[in-house]
Amino acid sequence: MRNKSFVILLLAFLFIGACTQNKDVSPQAKLVSHLKKQLSFALNQIEPLLQNENDLVAPRTIEEGALRMVPSSDWTSGFFAGELWQMYQITKDTFWRKEAMKYTTLLEQEKFNAKTHDMGFKMFCSYGQGYAITKNPHYRDVLLQSAETLISRFNPKVGCIRSWDHNSDKWDFPVIIDNMMNLELLFWAAKETCDSTYKEIAVSHALKTLQNHFREDYSTFHVVDYDPETGEVEGRTTHQGYSSGSTWARGQAWALYGFTMVYRETNNPVFLEQAENIADFILAHPRLPEDLVPFWDFDAPAIPDEPRDASAATIMASALYELAEYSPNREEYLSAANKIFESLKSDKYLAKQGTNKGFLLLHSTGSKPHDSEVDVPLVYADYYFLESFIRRNNYCNH
Ligand code: GLY
Repeated sequence: MRNKSFVILLLAFLFIGACTQNKDVSPQAKLVSHLKKQLSFALNQIEPLLQNENDLVAPRTIEEGALRMVPSSDWTSGFFAGELWQMYQITKDTFWRKEAMKYTTLLEQEKFNAKTHDMGFKMFCSYGQGYAITKNPHYRDVLLQSAETLISRFNPKVGCIRSWDHNSDKWDFPVIIDNMMNLELLFWAAKETCDSTYKEIAVSHALKTLQNHFREDYSTFHVVDYDPETGEVEGRTTHQGYSSGSTWARGQAWALYGFTMVYRETNNPVFLEQAENIADFILAHPRLPEDLVPFWDFDAPAIPDEPRDASAATIMASALYELAEYSPNREEYLSAANKIFESLKSDKYLAKQGTNKGFLLLHSTGSKPHDSEVDVPLVYADYYFLESFIRRNNYCNH
């Protein structure tokens, strides 16, 4: 009898062991374990910096071998907290939730910062995700104030939210394609308050951008400058791209993501068509590399000897996963998104554990014309990589 029990116990043990082992070696589980360790490593790197210089709240990149931390006013400040919320979503481990809450709280003062358009990046990626998960009413208040502050930059004559205040010698009322990303906060605020003003402003901005930011082939200009008195376009140029006539890869990625999201929020088919055309420009481009991780600008002069921009690839992958849900070209977009994701999780782009100061990805480019952040890790590349991972898993679990 005792022998029989022993054999049953042994078999049960072997069975459980085999299941666990299978789970542990699945590529998905291996990647999650890698991400967990790498982000824990990042937290260990950041903690001492928070204690020493308390106006620095989040990591952005590596500069001359050192971690570059930024204050809450930096446009990238919300991505790290956002990544921690994403890790909580992926793992359901309360460790990540506690860390996410800590890094989210450090950004609160930005709700009153009316000096830039970057409110969505800063607050929706952090507080927005936090609110979706926790329903914490304080997060809601912070987000509503942030939306209020953002719309103070709207000019009804132009029909857009002003992007930058800097370089006033160059531009009168600059609107950059990146600004599409900030509209998600406004769509959220409209639903939350039943005040349609936020949505009207977001739709106006998206329509004007559709009208004025694109060339005939659906490539985007980076900056469109408006006359704030008449609303007329004064010029079309670039800031982070190669030239006024070139297509900056991350700009094209913001456009793809932005119009896909605006279609989700409005159901207006003109936005879906725009997103499809933007996607088709990217995917059919003769200078898009085989692994679908673009060079920093589609028209950079020394391609193929130009730096890549993994951040643009992560934004494209995440957007394509969403666009595949709405478009009849579903299979094409899904396959492209999967291909980008596979490239990014290969050894070429995914940092080895315990390296890269805890950043997940290598080979992003911030601003090549300014010789700034070229071929480095960038926090927003990691953020959209994790978002792609979550969106990809949603497909796998359907
Ligand atoms: N929003 C700034 C950038 O994409 O670099």
